[in-house]
Amino acid sequence: MRLATRVQTIGASPTLAMNARAKEMKQQGIDVVSFTVGEPDFNTPEHIAAAGIEAIREGFTRYTPAAGIPELKEAICLKLKRDNGLQYDPADVVVSNGAKHSIYNVLQALIDEGDEVIVPAPYWVSYTEMVKLNGGSPVIVSTKAGDDFKLRPEQLKAHINDRTKAIFINSPNNPTGAVYSQTELEDLAEILVPRGIVIISDEVYEKLLYDGAKFTSVAALGPEVKEHTVTINGVSKTYAMTGWRIGYAAAPRALAKAMANIQSHATSNPNAIAQKAAVVALTGDQTPVKKMLAEFTRRREQMIAEINAIPGLSCRKPEGAFYIFAHVASFFGKTICGRKINGSVDLAEVLLTEGHVALVPGAAFGDDNYVRFSYATSLDAIEKGMARVKDVLAQA
Ligand SMILES: Cc1ncc(COP(=O)(O)O)c(C=O)c1O
Repeated sequence: MRLATRVQTIGASPTLAMNARAKEMKQQGIDVVSFTVGEPDFNTPEHIAAAGIEAIREGFTRYTPAAGIPELKEAICLKLKRDNGLQYDPADVVVSNGAKHSIYNVLQALIDEGDEVIVPAPYWVSYTEMVKLNGGSPVIVSTKAGDDFKLRPEQLKAHINDRTKAIFINSPNNPTGAVYSQTELEDLAEILVPRGIVIISDEVYEKLLYDGAKFTSVAALGPEVKEHTVTINGVSKTYAMTGWRIGYAAAPRALAKAMANIQSHATSNPNAIAQKAAVVALTGDQTPVKKMLAEFTRRREQMIAEINAIPGLSCRKPEGAFYIFAHVASFFGKTICGRKINGSVDLAEVLLTEGHVALVPGAAFGDDNYVRFSYATSLDAIEKGMARVKDVLAQA
């Protein structure tokens, strides 16, 4: 069977692949500590889960409007106003099977063959692949640790041309945890808006902020910026609802309509039961979000301290999300447990096979000098896993 050319340029998600390997080893009885996960380890808060159960009991189990139930679209508009100062109408909102699906819909609706999409690196693994799947070319622009992994206006300018259609802004960022300030976003928007470049603002980690970091939603910079922005968000990370699969996009009306049409043919509505639960997540008691953040804050402190105490490893303090992007290039060229370390993939491999610790090589995010640790795991696991990392790396 000859597969379509488009699939020959993409691979499986490296984060999911590493996670799957760690799970496989666990099933073989090996005590693996996994720092790969991109999801909160907490259960979905009780009152949200109860809304899902209630929906099943009530028989809310049929097709819904393809772009989401009016009740949820209204809850999303309410949330965008309450939390982000954004005024959207339910007709501007499309609810999808996770923020990942929302981003895919945006690209389907925007990208023509040969269009370029700017992807600041380090980037979330799926951006580049989704652009390619839609016939576009990802233009990767590497940011520097010295710039806190944020795109500088002059870097942006240097990569824009007539084919530039859109750009991804992901703040707080996966994998670096970088958070853009309002001024930094304004400086980028000033370049993008007059050129008609669409800003895809992935805001899924907006509630996970530390050390007083402040979140700014790109579309809130002003009406003109809003007209060029698609706001992407979801309930996965904020409410520990990764498995429910509810994400959304708020966009200029014509784009929202196009996305809704695409979705109506591709998947129909997102899960009806999960939509009901998402209404309660967005409009109900927000205390569990604060509790989860407090726990993430403790874990973050512990992991930063442990990483910076290991000779050869170092990291900057991430302001958001639940990842630490640690610099590992000092191990390159060395040999650990008989394995020559030529890059982040080798290092991740030796830590998995020798230390039984799983993490994601930076190469997957477009920067080979780093590995990503997720601290969406318990303090005990962090202590145990980091002790193993220290032991393995001590053999370099
Ligand atoms: C930056 C970023 N955007 C989007 C997503 C997708 O989230 P969802 O579960 O809503 O599809 C993830 C998940 O890892 C992510 O890290």
